[in-house]
Amino acid sequence: MVEFFQGAYLNRREFLKITFIGGMVFSSGLIRPIAAEIKKEGKVMPYAAKDYSKLIGMEGFSETLLKNHFTLYQGYVTNTNKVLDALEQMLKDGKTSVPEFAELKRRLGWEFNGMRLHEYYFENLGGKGGIDKGGKLAKKLSEGLGSYEAWEKDFKATGAMRGIGWTALYQDNTSGRLINFWINEHDVAHPAGCSLILIMDVFEHAFMLDYGLKRADYIEAFFKNIDWKAAEARLK
Ligand SMILES: [Fe+2]
Repeated sequence: MVEFFQGAYLNRREFLKITFIGGMVFSSGLIRPIAAEIKKEGKVMPYAAKDYSKLIGMEGFSETLLKNHFTLYQGYVTNTNKVLDALEQMLKDGKTSVPEFAELKRRLGWEFNGMRLHEYYFENLGGKGGIDKGGKLAKKLSEGLGSYEAWEKDFKATGAMRGIGWTALYQDNTSGRLINFWINEHDVAHPAGCSLILIMDVFEHAFMLDYGLKRADYIEAFFKNIDWKAAEARLK
């Protein structure tokens, strides 16, 4: 089920979450213009949405789909700032033992990752040509499962799994090992102590407008547009 919200197509769960949290936060009067105060006091700046419009024109991704996706991403940036502001205000007001504080604290990881994972995603797109098979990343990918081809098969199979979320290639900072993970929604199953190397969005909004239920075709289009240099630069 896909819903339309503020110019973006959202799956039903996302739509319900956003409308629920928006209603809860606004109706409780928690949102106050403290972002500007923080800026004025020179503490921390609110997060700002980045511009990924250079990706428009990418083969296999329609302009409408990309623009909707950018709008959705901007919503996560906005909501991350709102949740952080609301939590700070509640802390100042001594309202940390109420259910609203707990729910917003639980919410923060979802909104923040919704923002940050999209940034990783858009930034590892827009590349031309395949991976440099003689490069550092290809060599490390070959080590893990025996060959680059085996790694690619595993990454694509992970992306084809039923459900909404992300397929993420992580590097374990402790061992240096590269492992493909399934991330449920935005915030479930990120491995601790690991660095994100490559990520693919497999929420319906990332492909349904162009590919319907043909997720495998979207995954092929994603692979044609990976910016391998950006991914390799994330290696430790
Ligand atoms: Fe997305």
